[in-house]
Amino acid sequence: MAEKKTPHATGSTTQAGIPAVSDRNSLTTGPDGPIVLHDAHLVETLQHFNRMNIPERRPHAKGSGAFGTFTVTEDVSQYTKAAMFQPGVETEMLARFSTVAGEVGSPDTWRDVRGFALKFYTEEGNFDLVGNNTPIFFVRDPMKFPHFIRSQKRLPDSGLRDNTMQWDFWTNNPETAHQVTYLMGPRGLPKTWRNMNGYGSHTYMWVNDKGERFWVKFHFLTNQGMEHLSNEEAEALAGKDAEYHRRDLFDAIERGDNPSWDLYVQVMPYEEAKTYRYNPFDLTKTWSKKDYPRIKVGTMELNRNPRNHFAEIEQAAFSPANMVPGIGMSPDKMLLGRNFAYQDAQRYRIGTNFQQLPVNRPINEVHTYNFEGAMWYDHSGDRSVYAPNSFGDSWSDEEGSVDVGWETDGELVRQAYTLRENDDDFGQANILVNEVFSQEERDGLVDTVAGALDTVIEPVLSNAIQYWKNVDETIGQRIEDRVRQGGSAGDQQPGGDPKDKADSLV
Ligand code: HEM
Repeated sequence: MAEKKTPHATGSTTQAGIPAVSDRNSLTTGPDGPIVLHDAHLVETLQHFNRMNIPERRPHAKGSGAFGTFTVTEDVSQYTKAAMFQPGVETEMLARFSTVAGEVGSPDTWRDVRGFALKFYTEEGNFDLVGNNTPIFFVRDPMKFPHFIRSQKRLPDSGLRDNTMQWDFWTNNPETAHQVTYLMGPRGLPKTWRNMNGYGSHTYMWVNDKGERFWVKFHFLTNQGMEHLSNEEAEALAGKDAEYHRRDLFDAIERGDNPSWDLYVQVMPYEEAKTYRYNPFDLTKTWSKKDYPRIKVGTMELNRNPRNHFAEIEQAAFSPANMVPGIGMSPDKMLLGRNFAYQDAQRYRIGTNFQQLPVNRPINEVHTYNFEGAMWYDHSGDRSVYAPNSFGDSWSDEEGSVDVGWETDGELVRQAYTLRENDDDFGQANILVNEVFSQEERDGLVDTVAGALDTVIEPVLSNAIQYWKNVDETIGQRIEDRVRQGGSAGDQQPGGDPKDKADSLV
């Protein structure tokens, strides 16, 4: 711990650095008399207390993280010119893990997808990879994202979470089936954050120093082994220790048991995207590892705990828009939508100049023509405030096509992606259930889904059963048998007892 600064040998100070005199007694007119308004220290203490909160993140409110180092152990320079991916380069970084739906004080072990957000402080600026512990997502159009999150949060009248609302969204959007299968399977309950993989999920672009372009998927594979909780364990932990995952990560790093992940990429040559049997930009689909085997890049180790959770984790701001030279977007509509959403959220949540906070600022020099706004301090008065200018302050002036671009043409439309040979909403979910899950995991899936449907009312219940039959006829039938025989809420009508709508934690 750094030595605390105090100009007063034994006491505290006000925020202006003035000796505070007393942190125990307010200034009063006599010991029994009223408090006086000019007790500046009391006034400041009460006023600052009222302003301790900032809005929580809309999704992914509950989480924590740690700092670390990413080291490139292999040579992938044939695919990208990004400085941080050149052989042997070490980059300081920050990771934040989170649940999606729960609020800031919610239990870490509620069943959910887990956020896996990374910020790399590279010499070319910050690169953020804001992913999850699953390689895909629920929807493929950003227009649906706020609807999705609202359906997972709370009812406006009772303030309760509601399984009917969740399943209604999912069953009305069948492209969710693949991710819902992941969510209802083991990955919905990772044992710890150390025991889960992380994925960039989207397709990104890499470009090398010859200008050759590749489509890339990021996979961070845990070196601690993938481990999961059972429904019973997770439920018990939610009651016993809401901060179970936060504590586990912090304690592991404190005792020097630093977790690590190996980064692998799947690389698709630029032209192959045009004819691949799945639309490679559809976020609800994976690329077959047989078609595109994983190539190792390096290792990320988390080795330093935050010293101040609020300053370094709560105020951390990750954004898919933060890309460095050699890495770019793809035509994935979700990724393009996210490009706008995050920094807008952070200007509201943290403040206009959130990028100046130590946790968010890049290690290289910032030379931007944006300046001022609340809390801005880093601009010397003798710098030009416009470009171009005649006083020697540089500006950027590239023209023509960009190196991380792609060709596109066509009429403006509102339309889903064009379907390809293997593109359907249930096919990859079926592969996950039958070719990836073990028998035990399939049994667990039936248990979990039946439990999650326990309070769901008609017509959503029947839609949910049909949804699972579309994923796999046998699994769907088993779920139906369990739900119907278990005397579920299926025969209730909308508008019934609101208590029946309570969330069963899944
Ligand atoms: C957080 C929007 C899709 C992963 C957030 C935040 C917003 C947001 C506004 C809060 C940001 C903040 O306040 O700092 C969206 C929109 C999406 C989308 C509009 C779709 C169009 C996704 C997808 C993933 C993802 C597909 C993963 C593949 C995350 C993670 C966080 C987050 C991990 C937490 C970041 C942190 O730890 O601070 N999202 N999101 N989101 N999102 Fe998304």
